Amino acid sequence: MRVVTTIAELKALLDTYRKEGKMIALVPTMGALHAGHASLVKRSVAENGVTVVSVFVNPTQFNDKNDLKNYPRTLDADCRLLEEVGADVVFAPAVDEMYPEEDTRSFSFAPLDTVMEGACRPGHFNGVAQIVSKLFYAVEPDRAYFGEKDFQQLAIIREMVRQLALPVEIVGCPIVRENDGLAMSSRNTLLSAEERERALTISRTLFESLEHAKSNDLASTKAFVENVINSTEGLCLEYYQIVDGNTLQEIAEWGDSEYVVGCIALFCGKIRLIDNIVYKK
Ligand code: PAF
Repeated sequence: MRVVTTIAELKALLDTYRKEGKMIALVPTMGALHAGHASLVKRSVAENGVTVVSVFVNPTQFNDKNDLKNYPRTLDADCRLLEEVGADVVFAPAVDEMYPEEDTRSFSFAPLDTVMEGACRPGHFNGVAQIVSKLFYAVEPDRAYFGEKDFQQLAIIREMVRQLALPVEIVGCPIVRENDGLAMSSRNTLLSAEERERALTISRTLFESLEHAKSNDLASTKAFVENVINSTEGLCLEYYQIVDGNTLQEIAEWGDSEYVVGCIALFCGKIRLIDNIVYKK
């Protein structure tokens, strides 16, 4: 496994693989890797000739300075895990390498980016699009792998690829959960033992809501999730929205869409977590 830090070095290395006719895939990450990332990398390794994993905590997608400061950075451990799962190249640039000057590009993915995370974290998806497009220009991957936990991000990246007409196939991969159901997230490591216990309510409630949905209307199911979260000490709900999985717009009735997903964001203590559940596809 090669670890490179500059775009020039990365491009030169990937050119040699390309000349050998190898399919090149990218798994973009912000590091602090866990089994969820490992599953993306393993799938990429199985499906492509070369897997590049980028490890870069992208400052432009953080709308909260403290969140950026506290984001876990564990490059050595990340490289050990990536070696184990068979990644070929780790691209771990410094901030100046990706942003030698301010990135003034402004993207619009409306209406996908005006709801949920887009509404709660102004500028977040613009920053995601800035870095993911730069990574796509640097790597020129045939495929790129993203987790479905960041459901809205995945939809926006597909839209960005469509808008920029980039020749990359976007592969969405299922959420990986801890044995007790908590969706894997780099932020989980920031939870205290007590918060980690409380955070279990999120996935448990989402799964219970699947049962609830079988005999109740959408409004009642939404209220069920909201009530459980709001009545759990230490959890502070930001939103729970039941949306059309393609447009990400809220729907009023189960029959309004063939693809129905519930998306949640909340604070567990000071840590912001997201998760989602598919009601219908
Ligand atoms: O999902 C993430 O970890 C980040 O948003 C991404 C796609 C690596 C861009 O920084």
